[in-house]
Amino acid sequence: MASSSSFHLCILFLYASLLIPTVCHGKTMQPDDHDHVALFIFGDSVFDAGNNNYINTTMNYRSNFWPYGETFFKYPTGRFSDGRLIPDFIAEYAKLPLIPPYKQPANHQFINGVNFASAGAGVLVETHKGMVIDLKTQLSYFKDVERLLRQQLGDEEAKKLFKRAVYLFSIGNNDYLFPFLSNSSFFQSYSQEKYVEMVIGNLTAVIKELHMKGGRKFGFFSLPPLGCIPAMRALKPGNSSGCVEEINAIVKLHNYALSEVLQKQERQLEGFMYSSFDSYTSFSERMENPSRYGFEEAKSGCCGSGPYRGDNSCGGKRGVKEYQLCGNASAYMFFDSGHPTEMANQQFAKLMWSGTTDIVWPYNLKALFGFT
Ligand SMILES: *[C@@H]1O[C@H](CO)[C@@H](O)[C@H](O)[C@H]1NC(C)=O
Ligand SMILES: *[C@@H]1O[C@H](CO)[C@@H](O)[C@H](O)[C@H]1NC(C)=O
Ligand SMILES: *[C@@H]1O[C@H](CO)[C@@H](O)[C@H](O)[C@H]1NC(C)=O
Ligand SMILES: *[C@@H]1O[C@H](CO)[C@@H](O)[C@H](O)[C@H]1NC(C)=O
Ligand SMILES: *[C@@H]1O[C@H](CO)[C@@H](O)[C@H](O)[C@H]1NC(C)=O
Repeated sequence: MASSSSFHLCILFLYASLLIPTVCHGKTMQPDDHDHVALFIFGDSVFDAGNNNYINTTMNYRSNFWPYGETFFKYPTGRFSDGRLIPDFIAEYAKLPLIPPYKQPANHQFINGVNFASAGAGVLVETHKGMVIDLKTQLSYFKDVERLLRQQLGDEEAKKLFKRAVYLFSIGNNDYLFPFLSNSSFFQSYSQEKYVEMVIGNLTAVIKELHMKGGRKFGFFSLPPLGCIPAMRALKPGNSSGCVEEINAIVKLHNYALSEVLQKQERQLEGFMYSSFDSYTSFSERMENPSRYGFEEAKSGCCGSGPYRGDNSCGGKRGVKEYQLCGNASAYMFFDSGHPTEMANQQFAKLMWSGTTDIVWPYNLKALFGFT
């Protein structure tokens, strides 16, 4: 008990010291700054900065324990990595402070945006139902924030803020991982094409609602080759060093459908602009040629147990107590059984921010942030 309460104090103290500089130095952005662009973040564990610390869920959907956070924050924030996530770097490049999780108590400052992402979440409400904040609920939280900002700033200023803001997504991973790992009769009752259509259909509905609220600039971290994460490689019988190709196949269907739908929105929705990052290619390049990107290992995780450290046991709090931890997370692409290290996140964030059109298109995030 004693160690658990001092652990909480430690979180509060460090959060406070992270947040204070942005408040005390008088540098908080005013809504009438013409270059002020807020960042609203939606999605899953790739982007969750700690929302799941505050919801009723199990350790499977949490990472607020050691060694998560060891490299950068030096304490576990609830991020599924050894350090910062992609949105943390994007906020830095955009000269914004770290964007806090929506569920973090005493967070009532939404002028710079807020993070709604929840580990385990999918587009579909059926995905990890009851354990996560699904995308629809994330949208309902956004609407609460929208109302609050309109009260605080007035309709006119709030409208400008929503129009200039960037809406960043990493979602869909769990819609495909979950049915693959559990015996989901819901998934099995649809053809793969129909299931992808449903995921994309619901995602499109969220994009359209945000557009109706004034949103114009949308960024997407599309799906990586999920069949090649350590957890999936570990499922392959024998020692084949292979990926699970069935899951990569449905991921490709999803990414293709997403790019089609984004092009369609660009034609149909007034002022709609987007940035789509080719995660699939970026991950694949690093797995094929790790040393070119500064990695020693791009198949096994740094933290976990079993083949490829593919068991979701990092930290020893999810049933399995024994786990291994590598000495230098930065030499790995994956920190645990399915999530990138800070080093990998930084590389992806840099490409999303200022990469060329072979990897991020039609605009990179730097361009999106720059549009007025
Ligand atoms: C949290 O969830 C568990 C299991 O679903 C349930 O037994 C418990 O009552 C819930 N706690 C709260 C505070 O809602
Ligand atoms: C999966 O669920 C179906 C019914 O929904 C059942 O018939 C089947 O045996 C289950 N398969 C496994 C591997 O549990
Ligand atoms: C959204 O998902 C639900 C299942 O959660 C499905 O019944 C519905 O048809 C989907 N909507 C669209 C527009 O695809
Ligand atoms: C696969 O086999 C190689 C060579 O025999 C071995 O070095 C490696 O540890 C094995 N990997 C797994 C995940 O068992
Ligand atoms: C950790 O790995 C990174 C990337 O390979 C390397 O640049 C760094 O020097 C390593 N650090 C230590 C302490 O070995």
